[in-house]
Formats: sequence, C-alpha cells, structure tokens
Amino acid sequence: MARRVLALLILTALAATGGWSFSAFAADDAAIARGAYLAAAGDCTGCHTDKKAGGALLAGGRALPTPFGTFYGPNITPDKATGIGKWTAADFHRAMREGKNEHGSFMFPAFPYTSFTNLTDADIADLYAYLQSIPAVAHQMPGHDMKMPFGWRPLLFGWRMLFFKEGPLQPVAGQSDEWNRGRYLAEAVAHCQECHTPRNLLGGLDRRHAYAGDPHGADKQDAPNITSDKKDGLGDWKEDDIVDLLKSGMTPDGDSVGGGMAEVVEGTGKLTDADRKAIAVYIKSIPPLPKTPK
Ligand code: HEC
Ligand code: HEC
Repeated sequence: MARRVLALLILTALAATGGWSFSAFAADDAAIARGAYLAAAGDCTGCHTDKKAGGALLAGGRALPTPFGTFYGPNITPDKATGIGKWTAADFHRAMREGKNEHGSFMFPAFPYTSFTNLTDADIADLYAYLQSIPAVAHQMPGHDMKMPFGWRPLLFGWRMLFFKEGPLQPVAGQSDEWNRGRYLAEAVAHCQECHTPRNLLGGLDRRHAYAGDPHGADKQDAPNITSDKKDGLGDWKEDDIVDLLKSGMTPDGDSVGGGMAEVVEGTGKLTDADRKAIAVYIKSIPPLPKTPK
C-alpha cells in the first residue's frame, strides 16, 4: 500500500513537471470507458460482430438482410487495412453525425445514423476513443449484396432529403433532466425507433406510427408496439417493468424477449440503474397509438 502511494506521488510529481503527461493518460482511459458504455447502449456489436460465426469483437461480417439487399456490418476495429484504423476523429464524427463515409459518400441507412446523428459531440469523441482502443483485427469484408439500383450511393441524396434530419438532439425545455436523458438514450444511442417504428416503401421511418411497432422488422421480426396504448402497447406496464426488461430481458409475464431485443438487452443490461430508469420514464411518456397495421 505504502509503495503504491509512493508510486502515485512520483507519477503525480512527474506529471506536474510536465515531463510526462499523467493526466492526459487518465483522461484517455475515462474517455474509453465512457465510449465502451455508449457502444454497449448503442449495440454496435449487434451489427458489427459476427457472433454466429464466432467473429472477433466489432470485426464485421454480420449479415443484415433488408428488402433492398443484404448488408454486411463493416469491420470497425482499428485495423489500418480492413478496419477504421486510418479514420481520423473527424472522419468518424462525420460518419456518425452526417452519415458519410471516409470518402464523403452517403452511407446506407442500414447503419442507423438517422439515430446516431443525435449524439453529442462529446459522446461521438468518446466512442471514437473506445473504438481505437480495441484490438485491431484484420478481416476483409465482402461488399454489400444489394439489389439494383439500391447499391448506388448517390441515390441516397433524395432519401436523405426526405428522411434524414441532422442532429444533435436538443433537450426539450420544461421536461425533467431524467426525461431528457431517457429521450437521448432511446433516440440517439439505443435507437429504439429503428426497430419499433415501421418503415415505408423507401425504407424511411414512418413517424406517424412512432413506436407503434413494425410488423416487418429487422431480421423479419415483429417488433411490438411500445407506446403507452392500453390495448396494443405498454399501457399496463409500470416504469419498473420496463427497467426490469432492459436489465434482464424478462417481461412482466415472465417471458424472456428474443431476437433483436435480446441483443439490445445485452447492452442495456450494462447500463446504470439510473439510465435504465430514465429510458423507462421517456418510453412511458410516448403517446398511445394503435399497433401499426400489417
Ligand atoms: C443496425 C445495424 C448497425 C448498428 C446497430 C450499428 N451499425 Fe455501424 N454500420 C452498419 C452498416 C450496415 C454499415 C455500412 C454502411 C455503408 O456501407 O454505407 C455501418 C458502418 C459503420 C461505420 C463505417 C465503417 C466503414 O468502413 O465504412 C462506422 C464507423 C460504424 N458503422 C460505427 C458504428 C458504431 C460506433 C455503432 C454503435 C454505436 C454502430 N456502428 C452500430 C450497421 C450498424
Ligand atoms: C434491433 C431491433 C430492436 C431495437 C433496437 C429495440 N428493440 Fe425492443 N424489441 C424488438 C423485438 C424484435 C421485440 C420482440 C421480442 C420478442 O417478442 O421476443 C422487442 C420487444 C420489446 C419490448 C417488449 C414488449 C412486449 O410487449 O413484450 C419492449 C418493452 C421493448 N422492446 C423496448 C425497447 C426499448 C426501450 C428499446 C430502446 C432502448 C428497444 N426496445 C430497442 C426489437 C428491438
């Protein structure tokens, strides 16, 4: 113990002389930890880790079937040749905020940047610090396997005019800090709407049915209505029921959620109780809507 204190004193003294930046080091570690937390909440592994094939963390390869073709989550480890090792913090910021890749081309909205655009600058910087800290894995991805003409990125120009609103999300005055935190986590980070809001024929979120469920959801799953509708939604759920679900994956009936939601829960299970509670407060405030028709 005494020796540790001594070591710390020496380190602090060194840092104070400016000879070696101890505080910068500690700041990086804190940024990495915050980034890891956001990556869990944002379920980056859900699309960027090929769990079925036993793929390495965030090294890509997960197939994402959609009506427009099959996407493959890219390798986002810091490998220079096959991952994002050459991406600067600014490149990464542009991808998250603007949905443009390192060449400035439009990215496909199978990457939920329609939600991530709402992240704060600080959270994007922390995610970058985290991604640059994980092991670099060389894993060359196949190209996306798109149906004609959807693979043509410039087509997304029109799509973005219709369906993309650049963030960040602004807090709503008059709502509590907890509600605003919950909204931020649900809308920007954990992107609940990307599955629980249906899509139109062009693959844009149809916000008339926000949170009212998507009968033709990702991986062909039926994502339920999570508005506060008594009959079709979560009207009868207490806040704590939502908190429990986000922690353990168990519904009040004692079922455990499957599919995409099980992956989401792997991430939300790592959040603090306060953050899960904030999400529940926000979700409970969503106005009731009937289930999206098939
Ligand atoms: C629902 C699936 C999905 C989730 C969740 C997801 N991504 Fe992606 N991501 C994709 C797809 C698909 C692409 C490829 C988009 C393209 O080619 O235009 C992509 C591309 C990227 C890229 C660009 C990589 C490259 O080489 O072009 C980065 C960086 C990235 N994602 C980071 C993240 C981070 C960080 C998270 C978690 C906070 C995340 N993604 C969550 C599907 C996803
Ligand atoms: C990757 C897609 C996806 C994302 C993202 C997602 N969900 Fe889900 N969610 C589903 C699916 C699919 C189900 C149905 C699971 C089942 O029936 O086993 C579900 C089920 C649920 C349920 C249970 C509802 C019921 O009636 O049983 C709740 C509550 C829920 N999600 C809340 C959320 C919240 C809150 C978020 C954001 C923090 C979120 N979901 C993000 C796909 C998703």
